[in-house]
Amino acid sequence: MCGIVAYIGNRNAYPILIKGLHRLEYRGYDSAGVAMFNDKLSVYKCKGKVADLENFTSGKDVGGSIGIGHTRWATHGEPNDVNAHPHYSGSKKLVLIHNGIIENYAPLKEEMKKRGHKFESDTDTEVLIHLIEDIQDREKVDLVEAVRIALNNVIGAYAIVLLSEENPDLLIAAKKSSPLVIGVGENEFFIASDATPIVEYTKNVVYLEDEEIAVMNRKGKLQIKTIRNKEVDPYIQALQIQLEAIEKGGFEHFMLKEIYEQPRSIKDSMRGRVNATEGIVALGGIHDHLQKFQNAKRIIIIGCGTSWHAGLVAEYLFEDLARIPVEVEYASEFRYRNPVIYETDIVIAISQSGETADTLAAIELAKSKGATIFGVCNVVGSTIPRHTHGGSYTHAGPEIGVASTKAFTAQVTVLTMMALLLGHRRGTITESHYHEMLCELEAIPAKIEKVLKLNDQLKNIASVFKDSKNFLYLGRSYTFPVALEGALKLKEISYIHAEGYPAAEMKHGPIALIDEEMPIVVIATKGTSYEKVVSNIQEVKARKGKVIAVVSEGDMIVKTMADYVIEIPETDEKLVPLVSVVPLQLLAYHIAVMRGCNVDQPRNLAKSVTVE
Ligand code: G6P
Repeated sequence: MCGIVAYIGNRNAYPILIKGLHRLEYRGYDSAGVAMFNDKLSVYKCKGKVADLENFTSGKDVGGSIGIGHTRWATHGEPNDVNAHPHYSGSKKLVLIHNGIIENYAPLKEEMKKRGHKFESDTDTEVLIHLIEDIQDREKVDLVEAVRIALNNVIGAYAIVLLSEENPDLLIAAKKSSPLVIGVGENEFFIASDATPIVEYTKNVVYLEDEEIAVMNRKGKLQIKTIRNKEVDPYIQALQIQLEAIEKGGFEHFMLKEIYEQPRSIKDSMRGRVNATEGIVALGGIHDHLQKFQNAKRIIIIGCGTSWHAGLVAEYLFEDLARIPVEVEYASEFRYRNPVIYETDIVIAISQSGETADTLAAIELAKSKGATIFGVCNVVGSTIPRHTHGGSYTHAGPEIGVASTKAFTAQVTVLTMMALLLGHRRGTITESHYHEMLCELEAIPAKIEKVLKLNDQLKNIASVFKDSKNFLYLGRSYTFPVALEGALKLKEISYIHAEGYPAAEMKHGPIALIDEEMPIVVIATKGTSYEKVVSNIQEVKARKGKVIAVVSEGDMIVKTMADYVIEIPETDEKLVPLVSVVPLQLLAYHIAVMRGCNVDQPRNLAKSVTVE
């Protein structure tokens, strides 16, 4: 969390920083700031979004061809003007932006206070920039060396960029456990938390590795060394993303655009990987570890948030199709509970961003116990894919809306392909079922197109329930994770309290909440639990709850009971999550818009959670 952008070169830096900060706002948006050098160092920062910063700087001198910018998601200290980045050193000659947490900031601060340092903010970042200057003064070393020594003294995570009044032809960046990408242009460098602020200027990038320090100057020189003082040759790679993919393309919000992109993004996930006619599933990443997968005694799936929900769908898929026992864990719990991990285990880490701190830490733990780690990630070149033994990208394209939509369906698509491939190899599904499933999978994008045509109906339902205080979402078997995901979407962006539950569990507690005020979204599509879910709907109706049912096209039974019926195209039960989640995304979206919420940047959330 927190977004970083910096520029050094011959262009006007400010517009590059502001545009970049807008692109990175998904990483945090409680305050923003820039520091520019134009004969002297100037810092502008304020509480609020990047647009507030633009208002704040209007009419001020923001000239200069070197600068750093930051958009914050508060960890240490409330979101206010003072805690916003950049932060000055004691002499005000250095400024720093930082993403991450310096865990030992408190003792460092105390020590420096004793030596006369005065701090203005509550942040760990200010402690780090004071420390760098303190080292520079006390040890009489140059700035880069002071940064290196300081980073050897801090515990925690950081992606930093530092600008110095005395060295205005230099930017210094470093990272550990928080991402940083350097765009390499002609005698210019762009530095950012991800590639989106960079893509329109250059396709040549260097992904900084943990504990590396990069020093860039205006003459186009880039030097990288580790904090242990080892020189590293910069490895320049070509960026894959296109500019159009990170713009709204006529939609009111990124979230809506991304919901509508799903037929395409699912096709992209399958492109070159599924051929129903020939009965082929080809996933490069898995083929390299096929033996291990085939012989796995157990699969452990780890993830957070929506990715964890995709993991739950995968649990049903892998057990059903490949007959391999699966455990799904919140990465944050897994990493701290001394789990039993065998060398024969396969750990699948699911992450849209590829940067989630808890998921990364869980991966390192499982790796240290000898398990094989497989990543299912969306952001190409992100940290998780670089820390796993193998993996498959989901290829959904950049997801900017904080609430995940197309990334979820792409994750489920990849996990379905994996389960089918393994089931086929292990002989745990019949040839005919395998072929039917492949045909059904290829038909999913067209079915989602049909669901998207229900947008107006979902808008009407949203207008009826937009002022509700609570929502309950029920599903069973494959649709239980969809209920969880539907509830998560609603609470994330509309701030209505919503809970997802296995339909049958309702009578063990949530049924007590049901009255005529309570909307209950039930996924009651055709499948093995259909009749049971119909009974659950009756239980709800007997208590006067308002039922919004997602059913298979042509359903006549639920229609007679539910208050609102959303008909979606029928598909194999195992693929229902892909189709049934879409109306729930739209419902949450419209409710949030009608409540006047900021759909793409919901309060308190961030898209990439790089703190634990
Ligand atoms: C944050 C995001 C969620 C996301 C979760 C896990 O909470 O707001 O949308 O599901 O992190 O992120 P990941 O990038 O690991 O999938």
